[in-house]
Parts: sequence; C-alpha cells; structure tokens
Amino acid sequence: MDMTFRFARIRGNANVYTVRNDTESPDMSTNGTDLIQAIREDHQQIKSLLETVRTQLDAEAFQKLVSKLAVHETAEEEVVHPLTRNAPGGEPVVEQRLEEEDKGKKALSELEKMGVQDPRFPASFEQLRTDVLAHAQHEEQDEHPKLARSVDAKKLESLARVFRSAENTAPTHAHSMSPESATGNIAVGPFVAIADRARDAIRNAMRDERG
Ligand SMILES: [Fe+2]
Ligand SMILES: [Fe+2]
Repeated sequence: MDMTFRFARIRGNANVYTVRNDTESPDMSTNGTDLIQAIREDHQQIKSLLETVRTQLDAEAFQKLVSKLAVHETAEEEVVHPLTRNAPGGEPVVEQRLEEEDKGKKALSELEKMGVQDPRFPASFEQLRTDVLAHAQHEEQDEHPKLARSVDAKKLESLARVFRSAENTAPTHAHSMSPESATGNIAVGPFVAIADRARDAIRNAMRDERG
C-alpha cells in the first residue's frame, strides 16, 4: 500500500472514532482497519476516558480507563513492540516505550489503591494523564512510522484482528470488577488481572493467525 495513502487514512480515521457503549459486545471484525489505525483509535478512546476521569472524578469511568489501558498496553507489548524491535532502529524506540509503560503501570496501581475520593487523587491523576498522553504521542510519532515502513499492509491488517482479540476479556461493567480476589487479596488489582487475561487471549489469537 502506498505510504502517503496509508497515513492519510490513519489521520482521517482518528477523527471519526466512537466510544463503545457498555451494552455493545466488542467488535471482533476490523472492517479493513490495520494495526496502526486500531492503536490510534484506542488512543482516542483513552484520551476521552482520561478527560472524563479528570473532570468528573467518577469511579466507574476510572475503572473503564484502567481496563482499557490494561488491554491496550498488553496488546502493544505482545503484538506491536516485537514488530518494532525487528524494524531498523527499532530497539531503542521500544526500550523507551516500555520504560514509559512501566512508569504508567506503577502510577496506575497507586491510583487504584487510592480511589477517586482520595484528596491526593486529582494531582496524581493529572501526572498520569500527562504521561499517558505523551506516551501515546511518542508511539504515534516514533514507533508507528517504523511499523508502516517495515511491515507489509496485509500483515498489518491481520494483526489488527489479533490486537482487538483481547477486548472481550475485559469486564464491561465496573460492578463486576471487584478489586478483591477469591482470597481477599487486593494486591492482584483489576489492572493486573485484566492484563493477564488479555495476554492469554492475544497469544491464542496469534497462534490461530499463524495457523
Ligand atoms: Fe503503549
Ligand atoms: Fe498506545
């Protein structure tokens, strides 16, 4: 596929995403979407959830954000970053992204423990929001062009399906996401639990994709 055309499609698509309603089942088809578009649509949804949590300090919105980030970052670690590593000059780009993701996970875990009612939450959340937005921008500016140049269009389309395969592993309602495990141990928070399920789903989808 012509590179200019592909980037034009990406830019156009980023403006028309819709946030999925809770009652809808996750869309497993990609309708011709490629991996880079799928990631950028996610970034728009994450941006919108960050804004909702910032302005409303709503527990359910925060839970949706945690869930979205857990699935998104896991899918990037499993599907996207390994491809970038193989691209020319990709190694340092991936290392920087992983450092940012690690920092984000730690901050999110602190916020999960705090809860939205904690007086420290707004300031800590604002730091996370700034970091997550910068991280997404770095991916779009530094990582995606490497993918677009080094991975063929057909593979990017099939990997969009793999990338999306983890979405239905995340609970869609906050009330089904009790932070307590069966043993009452809250150390395994929703982020960790969702990321684990997402990883399994993606690895299975990856095996199916390879046939
Ligand atoms: Fe990321
Ligand atoms: Fe991302």
